[in-house]
Formats: sequence, C-alpha cells, structure tokens
Amino acid sequence: MSGFTGGIQLVYVLAAACFVIGLHLMNSPATARRGNQVSMAGMVIAGVATLILMIHYGTVTATGWIVLISGVLIGSAIGLYTARTVQMTAMPQLVSAFNAVGGGAAALIAIYEYIEAEANAGGVLGTTTVFTLLDVIIGAVTFSGSIIAAGKLQGIIGGQPITFKGGQLLNVALAVVAIGAAAFMLTTASLPALLVVVLASLAFGVMMVLPIGGADMPVVISLLNAFTGTAVAMAGFVIANWALIVAGALVGASGSILTKLMADAMNRSLANIIVGGFGTGDSAVAAAVAADAQVRSIAADDAAIQMAYASKVIIVPGYGLAAAQAQHGVAELAKTLEERGIEVSYAIHPVAGRMPGHMNVLLAEANVPYPQLMEMDEINPEFGRADVALVIGANDVTNPAARRPGNDISGMPILDVDQAKSIIVVKRSMGTGYAGMENELYFDPKTSMYFADAKKAMAELTAAVKTLVG
Ligand code: TAP
Repeated sequence: MSGFTGGIQLVYVLAAACFVIGLHLMNSPATARRGNQVSMAGMVIAGVATLILMIHYGTVTATGWIVLISGVLIGSAIGLYTARTVQMTAMPQLVSAFNAVGGGAAALIAIYEYIEAEANAGGVLGTTTVFTLLDVIIGAVTFSGSIIAAGKLQGIIGGQPITFKGGQLLNVALAVVAIGAAAFMLTTASLPALLVVVLASLAFGVMMVLPIGGADMPVVISLLNAFTGTAVAMAGFVIANWALIVAGALVGASGSILTKLMADAMNRSLANIIVGGFGTGDSAVAAAVAADAQVRSIAADDAAIQMAYASKVIIVPGYGLAAAQAQHGVAELAKTLEERGIEVSYAIHPVAGRMPGHMNVLLAEANVPYPQLMEMDEINPEFGRADVALVIGANDVTNPAARRPGNDISGMPILDVDQAKSIIVVKRSMGTGYAGMENELYFDPKTSMYFADAKKAMAELTAAVKTLVG
C-alpha cells in the first residue's frame, strides 16, 4: 500500500469513527441531533476522501465526471427537497424509498463490476465473487421489496396482505432459482446467469413484501434497512472500499437490532410479522368487556377541572397525536398545567406511533424538555401516584388485554395507565387502533372519553384550564 493510499485509509478510519460516535449519540433524544451532525460529517469526510482517491488515480473519464457531478447535484436536490417537505407521518415510506435507493445502488455496483470482469478477464473475479453475488441478491431484494413497502404505506398499493394460492411455493422457487444461478456462477462466468439472479431476486423482494399487512410495514422497513446495510458492506468488499464496509456493517447491525427491538416490543416473532397478515382488522379478538359495561364521555370543562386540581399528570401520546399534528398543542397544555405547579411527564411506549422514536421526534419538534419524556420502564411505577393519565391518540399501547393470553397483543408490554387515579382518553371515536382490537381501558369506571380530534381537544383543554382560578 502506497503512503497516499495509506493516508486515505486513515481518513476512512476517521469517517468510521464519526459513524460510530454519531450512532452512540443517537441513543438519547438530547444528543440525537448532534449524532446526526457527526454522522453527516463522517459521510462528507468519506465522500471527499473517495473523490481525492479517484482524482489521484485518474480512474474517472471526463464523461464519467459529468455523470458523477450531475448525479450528486440532482440526487442532493431531490434528497434535500423531500427531507424538508415530508410530513412526519410519511417518514416510514421516505425511509423505505431511501432503502430502495441504497440497496439498488449497492446491487448496481456489483453488477457493473461483474460485467467489467466478464469483459476483461472472462468473468473470473476470484475471491470477491461470493461478495459480488451476495451483493446482487441482497441489493435487488431490498430494492424491489422497499418499493413495494413504500407503495403500501403511501396507499398506492393496497395495505391489505396480498396473497394467492401457491404464493409461498413461488417464494421458495424464486429463492432456489436465485441461489442456484449464483452457485453456478461461482464456477462458471455467465452473464445470462447474472440476469437470472437479478430477476429472481427482484421478484423475490416483491413477493416477500406483498403478503405483509400495511400496518406491519415499519418492522419490515427496519428489516430492509438492515438488508441495505448488508448489501452496501458487500459492495465495499467488491470494490475494496473500507468506508463502505464499515458504514454498511453499522447499518446492517443497527437495523437488525432495531428490528428485533420492535418485534420484542410487540411481543411478536419476525416470522409471525412476515407471514402473519396482522393488523388488518380480520384478526381482531373481542375484548373481555362486560355486556353492560358503560363508556363515560367527558366535556372540556370537566376534564380541565380534573387536571387543573391534580398534583401529578402523566400524558400518554400515541399515533393519533401524530396524525392530528397535536404536538404543539399538547406542549402548550403541559406548560399551562406546569404554571399551576402541577408535575407533568410524558409516558413514551417504545412502539407508540408508527415508527421507532416517533413520539420522541414529534415532541422534540414542539420543544418538550427531554427530561419530561420517560421510557415505559421508568414511568410505569409512577402511574399509581398520578391523579390523571391523559391518553392522547394512544390505543393499543394502553390496552390491558395485553396482560391476558389468547389475543393478538398478548404479552406486549403496555403502559400501566389503568393504575392512575383517573384516566382521560382523547380520541375521535370508539374506533380501534393498529391491532384492530377493542380497548378494555375505555370501559374502566375510572376512564372518561373525550371524543375529539387531538389538536382541537388540546386547544379546548388549554383554554378551559386557563379559565380556572387557583
Ligand atoms: P394505535 O393503537 O394505532 O391507536 C391510535 C389511535 O389514535 C386510534 O385508535 C385512533 O382512534 C386515534 N386517532 C387517530 N387519529 C386521531 C386524531 N386525529 N385525533 C385523535 N385521535 C386519533 O396507536 P398507539 O397506541 O400509538 O400504538 C401503536 C401501534 O402501532 C401498536 O399496536 C404498535 O405495535 C404498532 N406499531 C408501531 C410501530 C412503531 S415502531 N411505533 C411499528 C409497527 C407497528 P380514533 O379513530 O377513534 O380517533
């Protein structure tokens, strides 16, 4: 290795250190922003180092530079525009689209390298062949699977699981064809076989995601994110680029951990998510609610009185808060209560909302102080001391049915909202949440339902609290 190349490798190590430190900082909402900035700095360092490498060795033709610079400019403009304009609730499909681009790019690197080697040396790639083929397979599966996942979340493709007779068999056949053709290529260079690997992998990606219900897409997206990282790491081996290997391995590992955490937080196995057809309403199980159980509704004034004369209020945000964009409204209500000397905290369930960290991101947008955001294990023992638990657009994550066996959410850890002295639930109707199950909490004699859009409800409650004296 020349001194120059060695210097570039050292710069790559610096970039990798930025990625690791950045990921570590993302562990807490308080430092997550800085984590993003450090990781971005790592990406810039790696990008610039690669450019210097390319200039030094003169590996890019004049036309190549035009294509490269145009690609960077167009890609950056599209990325910047979408990131700035995307609605928070549409973030999962944006991540999925980014996964498609990442997986597709990684696969293209391997395809290009293979075709080049075929033309120059009869396709003999030596030890990198395995990485090349893995890159093509994983990258192509991620590309097509992520497009289907994004389409389902965006409502372009129906969110229902799309299944047909023999679907599972077709999946197995596609996997066998892709792996079989790849195995053949380990000994014989063949462009037609490469085409078979690409097409079978693309078809497998589509067929893998189509049968999964739209509601399970966030977990699938996290899984596909792990695939993207793995494909990128393989691409790093193919072109001997350490920055790609490290960055890809980090994404692959963190995506896998996140997928596992999400599945655990729902108490479901990955296999159940992939073949379960969950969250479509047809798997709903009736809640254990007595036939004569009553639901009590409450008006803004009465709800305001309960909160204004409480000493401790715990706010439980859920998907409905995000859907209503009520984050600023809830922050204003909390501030109003605090001005009256009331202790306010937020109970954050790990899978509240529709993406990891959804509630943290949402409340950070409204500048809610981080120390007020309390994780499930930390806040659960506090509910018994709370005068009021104010549940806003959260449903499944509060359903006591999870403590009993025999239903779709059995075993899912929940927020112990029913331990509070009084419970106020803000939602628009008696409609179910993601799991399609009736919530027993709503029939608890301590619970009052405030039927309204969360944003409107926050404004009404804040106004009502402000009118109260003392
Ligand atoms: P959900 O159980 O989905 O319930 C959300 C509730 O919000 C609904 O019952 C709905 O009732 C209400 N709502 C919707 N729009 C509203 C609005 N504009 N104003 C007021 N309320 C509104 O939400 P959750 O409790 O946050 O639980 C999350 C669920 O998603 C869990 O089952 C979890 O497993 C699943 N999930 C989460 C993730 C991640 S990573 N977060 C990933 C995959 C799956 P109304 O229609 O009556 O208003």
